[in-house]
Amino acid sequence: MYKEKDISIDFLGIHLENPFVLSAAPPTDELEIAYDGLKAGWAGVILKTTSVENNPVLLKYPMMSSFGPQGRKVTGLGNIDLISQYHIDDIEKRVRILKEAFPEKMIGASIMGARKEDWQNLVWRLKKAGVDLIECSFSCPQGSMGEAPGRMLAQSIEATEKVTGWVKEAAEDTPVLIKITPQVTDIVEVAHAVKRGGADGITASNTIPSLVGIDINTFEPYPSLAGKGGYSGLSGPAIKPLTLRTIAEIASNVDIVISGNGGAFSWRDAVEIMAVGASNVQFCTLPMVYGFRTIRDLKSGLAHYLMDMGFDSPMDIIGKAIQNIYSHDELPSPYTRAELIGEKCIGCGLCFDACNDGGHRAIAWDGNTRRPNIDEEKCVGCAMCMQVCPVDAIRMKEKIDDSLNYFVIRR
Ligand SMILES: Cc1cc2nc3c(=O)[nH]c(=O)nc-3n(C[C@H](O)[C@H](O)[C@H](O)COP(=O)(O)O)c2cc1C
Repeated sequence: MYKEKDISIDFLGIHLENPFVLSAAPPTDELEIAYDGLKAGWAGVILKTTSVENNPVLLKYPMMSSFGPQGRKVTGLGNIDLISQYHIDDIEKRVRILKEAFPEKMIGASIMGARKEDWQNLVWRLKKAGVDLIECSFSCPQGSMGEAPGRMLAQSIEATEKVTGWVKEAAEDTPVLIKITPQVTDIVEVAHAVKRGGADGITASNTIPSLVGIDINTFEPYPSLAGKGGYSGLSGPAIKPLTLRTIAEIASNVDIVISGNGGAFSWRDAVEIMAVGASNVQFCTLPMVYGFRTIRDLKSGLAHYLMDMGFDSPMDIIGKAIQNIYSHDELPSPYTRAELIGEKCIGCGLCFDACNDGGHRAIAWDGNTRRPNIDEEKCVGCAMCMQVCPVDAIRMKEKIDDSLNYFVIRR
């Protein structure tokens, strides 16, 4: 219950007090930190990925880099982290401690193995410790162990189906999520393989392999480790559009529960992710950048949204947008034109530049009044001027039959 609105959900038979979960990542890698996250109000945690390997996990520092145009520092976050340095021996104890401290919250754990017996041992041990859910990382951007060496396990359809089958065989009635990568040719094929393997759901998705940037004075990639760099896993707002597409494609084609992950930075993002088919939303970069207190805004924003929209439960949002997603061929072609909202215009001229050099030269610039003049004959309604206007002073008018709609999109 969040104040007067119940924002709880049922996720794979697990009651979550809200749809927001901390994903397998640094915020769930230390017992005290995960504990504080749950105390702050997150509905559950997925402890950072562990394995049965006895070799130490060789982490390299600095492991983080970021990029953010236009004054925003973290639009995308890149990391060269690996799985947890904590062995399954430690994770089992943590599951017990957290489950005892927070019996009403979801305590999940993430695993990665090489051989069948490794995957199954991890599952048996976590089950015995009382875990509510098991997530399998098939998508570490630094590569997998075992079945698909050198690439991500979810990039192999055969390995995805086979390993999912091993895990589910051991997990029995404990829910299993397979965490996939969007970096494949056909995401639907991967989702079918997960389903054939018997998993209960898919986590879509993990970080995405990237090269975050290059220092143009030294030509060292970011992050630079004594002059050398490599490919990073990209997370944060930069990847949200990829997450939306990944989830929408899976939800439209495969009957399987989806845990949404990748790029959610606000309650609005979470609503979008659920609207394309996710049943809950996992977060990593948001709490890493702004801390656990962000859960307060997520809960309050969602509660108000549900009340404003007249929805009974967050579950009413799931998949709501799917029916409006079409292929390009199937899209209608309404009459649409740009319109200036004169009193909002600050005379910056950005719309003129965009239309003049990247549109259809439908905007003339009046240097005396510092105002754009839109020529409706030349305007085709591409909406580029609306995208660049910093103060939402341009809206699109759309005529369908004889009715007129207006829309302003800015994110
Ligand atoms: C530093 C760092 C370490 C991560 N480690 C893991 C991991 O061990 N296992 C895993 O499945 N995902 C891991 N992730 C991925 C996150 O759980 C999450 O899937 C990803 O960051 C996308 O979500 P976001 O955009 O909300 O951050 C890691 C992410 C970061 C930034």
